[in-house]
Order: sequence, then structure tokens, then C-alpha cells
Amino acid sequence: MPPSIHELSSQFAVHGLKFEAGNGGLLKAVIRTPLSQGELYMQGAHVTNFQPEGQKPVLWMSEKSVFETGKPIRGGIPICFPWFGPLASDPKAPGHGFARTTLWSLISTQALSDGSVAIELQSEINDFLVKLDVTFAQSLQLTLHVELKKTATQPATFEEALHTYFTVSDVRQIAIAGLEATGFVDKVDSAKVKPATGKSVLFDGECDRVYLDTTATCVLNDPGFRRTIEVAKKNSSSTVIWNPWIEKSSRMADFGDDEWPGMVCIETANVGTNSIQVSPGQSHQMSVTISAHHVV
Ligand code: BG6
Repeated sequence: MPPSIHELSSQFAVHGLKFEAGNGGLLKAVIRTPLSQGELYMQGAHVTNFQPEGQKPVLWMSEKSVFETGKPIRGGIPICFPWFGPLASDPKAPGHGFARTTLWSLISTQALSDGSVAIELQSEINDFLVKLDVTFAQSLQLTLHVELKKTATQPATFEEALHTYFTVSDVRQIAIAGLEATGFVDKVDSAKVKPATGKSVLFDGECDRVYLDTTATCVLNDPGFRRTIEVAKKNSSSTVIWNPWIEKSSRMADFGDDEWPGMVCIETANVGTNSIQVSPGQSHQMSVTISAHHVV
């Protein structure tokens, strides 16, 4: 049984954070402070809104997103874990793992003296104890901690992604800097491994690229919104860039046919050859800090 709004509120409401029934009746935390506004669904520990004071929303949400127990939410920051994409050993297993469709538990909430709000959640997935720390400040920070339980009998390998959907003025007009020197796996061209382009990422068709062995900060330059968004990460060696463009978005029931120009995903990840192996009792943590800046 999920906790009630009343139970969550009496244990975890703090200055700047309250609990509400969100879309589909799913429970969410709503953050409103002088620094930013935000929203986090308990299902999937899924951040669905982040808007720094004086700025447009940073995260994109599909108008067609489903909000149902056990179904993924389209937009915001889904957590992909313990695998990314389809599971090679079981094609029927849910894409991107089941962290994003699991109900997470709250561990703590805090209103910090600098005006930010911090939320800590956890979930048990297979033999892993998974925690997410989210801080809503002028920037948004997420840290995913993954611990293999001491009781596990052997080391385990996992993939992970903070699959962040950004809202953009028009994906055809933006550029993403930071990946110029990195080759990539091109998932729209038979997963061929392609060399570094030496240029920013620009968009003129479907894009689904897995950049491996890169810890670089990415900067999304959006002249239409006169802003840049910086995506800085720690302990993440993969970055995934995704826009489904026309045909793929028309095949997805939870993605509006005309919505693709308004979004792009920059995903902070450890996938493929960057998968993480942990021994029983050992843990790994990966973080991202997202900040938006006006361009004058
Ligand atoms: C991206 C993958 O990370 O997520 C794409 O690289 C995939 O291949 C996309 O289409 C969305 O996945 P899903 O399972 O949320 O539809």
C-alpha cells in the first residue's frame, strides 16, 4: 500500500515542500522556494518539473504522458536502472529497467539554510539498495547511490541513466557542446561506432547516440530561449543524446506527434562498456548538476 498524502505530510513536509495527489492520483512532492519550483513523483523518484526563479521550465514533459501505477512517465528525469534500453538477456523485460516504474520510499526531507530543499528516497531493486538524493536550489542536483547488499553472493553489474528531458525552443536551432572529441554508438545507424566529429551536436533528423568514455560537462545552447543549460556530472562515463524526430515520435503512444521539436535528452549515464560492477557491500554513486543561465 502506498503511504497516504496525510502520512507523507505529517512525516516529511518541510518549509517549501508539500505533498499532493498528482496526475492519475499518483503522489508527488511539490517544491516552491525563492530559488526554484519543482515536482517529484514518488513512483520512480521521478523529477517532473524544475524551474529556477525568473526562468522558463528546464525540464520537458509530454502532454501525452501516462500517469499510472507501474507505467513510465514521459519526460522529466526517469531513472534507468539496473539496465539501459532493452535487456539483452530477456527481450520481454521492461525497457530501461524497473526503477522508473517502482514506488520509492522517502527517507528524509530538509529545508536547508541556503533556501534549497533536499529530498532523499530509496528503493530495493534485485540485490541492490538504491538511493536518490535530489536538491532543488537555483540549480538541480541529483545523486544516484547504488549499493550491492552484503548478503549478495557474488559481484553484480548494472547500467544506469538519469534520462533527462530538456525543454528547448526548437531542437533544430540548438547546439550541444562538450562531446566534440568523443566518438559514439549511433543507434539510428545499426549501432555503428562512429568517430568524434570535432563539432557541437546539431539536429537535422532522429538522433540516438551513446557517447562512451566521456565525463565532460555538456552545454546546451538555445538561442530561441536565450539561455544555456549546463549539465555537469560526476562518476558518469557515458552521455546519451536523444531526439525521436517525426516517425519515431508518431509511433510512441505517450509522445505527441508534434512535440519532438520542443525537447532533447542529455542523459547522464554509465552504460554498455561503461557498466559498473560492484562487490557485495560495495557502492557506487553518480551525480548530475543542472543549471540554466540567461544569455543577454
Ligand atoms: C533513449 C534511448 O535513452 O530512450 C532510445 O537511447 C529510446 O533508444 C529512448 O527510444 C526512450 O525510451 P523509452 O523506453 O522511454 O521509450
